[in-house]
Amino acid sequence: MTSVTGRTGAPGQVKEVTSLANPVIKTIRSLARKKHRDEAGVFVAEGLKLIVEARDLGWTIETLVIAKSAVGSPLIDSSAAQTVAAGGLVLQVSGKVLEAISRRDNPQNAIAVIRQKHTALSSVTAQPTDLWIALDRVRDPGNLGTIIRTADATGARGLILVGECTDPFAIETVRATMGSVFAVPVVKTTTEAFLAWRKGWPGQVVGTHLEGSVDYRTVDYANGPVLLLMGNEQQGLSDALAAACTTLARIPQAGRADSLNLAVAAGVMMFEARRHALTIGDA
Ligand SMILES: C[S@@+](CC[C@H](N)C(=O)[O-])C[C@H]1O[C@@H](n2cnc3c(N)ncnc32)[C@H](O)[C@@H]1O
Repeated sequence: MTSVTGRTGAPGQVKEVTSLANPVIKTIRSLARKKHRDEAGVFVAEGLKLIVEARDLGWTIETLVIAKSAVGSPLIDSSAAQTVAAGGLVLQVSGKVLEAISRRDNPQNAIAVIRQKHTALSSVTAQPTDLWIALDRVRDPGNLGTIIRTADATGARGLILVGECTDPFAIETVRATMGSVFAVPVVKTTTEAFLAWRKGWPGQVVGTHLEGSVDYRTVDYANGPVLLLMGNEQQGLSDALAAACTTLARIPQAGRADSLNLAVAAGVMMFEARRHALTIGDA
């Protein structure tokens, strides 16, 4: 695979590209597939705001693709200069090339290829005030991105993806996080490894379950640390994970819907679990 990195140890370069047949553009487009993201250890984020946030939070921008029409805008130019100074590659491209990379009409005028970062389960530690979220086989990138964004907004410490989950570095997930993917640590693990690790968890494990007998509003979340466990969109929490919980909580519902959307349920739970810690002055 052609490298998308401009990182040579020497200052990077600026190149102009107009053809979709350019090998670097082809490689960036191939990052739409998880297999290629994993092989290259990078992913794509769109929009200057996200790119600035990523850099500020210590993520490495390997390649910055900018619209030729945006060259001259102070923010674009300074981001390009910082990328080059850090040894990255800057590509000035046509609107057609940006559309092809983002697979959207009206793409953002900056797209970055960013090096992935991974957090190991063994590095997760818990202070008494901490909230962590674990998701059992989450499948939908929009749900995962929304949950990462809400975890960030509620001050949760991080997310643990248990079993076969959608990729936190998929372009749809990154879009839905609105930049929170750069602020919230995400751990990937197997069910077996999670269950073994959970034995050392020093606080409550609150599972959310449609058959839970405890009203989610009656749990004492201030008695932390709290690990919140949410189930798969179709199948809910597996029996093995449900058995690993100290409490199975339910959000009472009216009407005909048999359950809430996973990201909505996670949002309700996270805000309740952090209610004692959040004040209007935090925003
Ligand atoms: C769409 S629901 C799964 C529905 C699935 N058919 C089931 O039987 O669990 C996805 C996840 O959101 C959470 N959830 C949704 N509605 C909930 C509710 N009313 N109370 C507690 N958890 C809920 C649970 O963690 C659930 O596993």
